[in-house]
Amino acid sequence: MAVKENNIPRHIAIIMDGNGRWAKKRGLPRTAGHAAGAEAFRRTANYCRTLGVEYLTVYAFSTENWKRSEEEVAGIMRLLGKYLEEALADMEKNRVRFKFFGDLSRLSPQLQKLCYDAQNRSADYDVQVNFCLNYGGRDEIVKASAAFARDVAEGKHQPEDLTEELLSSYLYSKDVPDPELIIRPSGEKRTSNFLLWQSAYSEYVFLNVLWPDFQPKDLDEAISEYCRRNRRFGGV
Ligand code: IPE
Ligand code: IPE
Ligand code: MG
Repeated sequence: MAVKENNIPRHIAIIMDGNGRWAKKRGLPRTAGHAAGAEAFRRTANYCRTLGVEYLTVYAFSTENWKRSEEEVAGIMRLLGKYLEEALADMEKNRVRFKFFGDLSRLSPQLQKLCYDAQNRSADYDVQVNFCLNYGGRDEIVKASAAFARDVAEGKHQPEDLTEELLSSYLYSKDVPDPELIIRPSGEKRTSNFLLWQSAYSEYVFLNVLWPDFQPKDLDEAISEYCRRNRRFGGV
């Protein structure tokens, strides 16, 4: 690929969007699009490992996605369960460290158990995948604020202690560097409540490909575009 190795972002985040449109184009149910999206995720996670990306954060289900039909939500949850069962069986081979960002309490007890098992059993592996499930950027900040307020009420902190670093430590992403690159396929150009805090200085790349069609070459294209950007962080 055209990208120098030392320019590979340490942390890439992806809004895995376009599954429904992919299915519609083929006259298939939306769930078939989500199944194809799960395959695209496997491909992309493997490719990220070959490239040496340290963290991959993927948006799998948002706090707003509950608005969809019961049938679609159930289909997505079923696929997530199937994916996690397979990931647990293949853990040794893939060596992915799983983390989950989001409020898992709304998921079924079975799915929650799969998430915790995947997280616990993969803790020593090297490439970290942050799976955003029932995740919302605003919800994350609200929950972090509430947790800080509780610590103030318990005398563990003073209100004046609050800094950007301290608030960051209450987020799902504590211990994870901010993503240098956020990719949104499917042609939509918005954040849809993804990583609102962490994306303050991320580079966004929007691609016209639908997520189930996403290939390693699309990741190469996004990284090449990222490498052409001039990141200034407010300086000159
Ligand atoms: C993304 O694909 C998957 C989820 C949000 C769960 P969509 O289902 O949003 O696909 P489109 O945007 O309708 O094509
Ligand atoms: C964002 O996609 C959420 C995920 C990809 C999981 P949506 O399809 O839900 O976003 P909108 O509705 O187009 O903004
Ligand atoms: Mg969508």
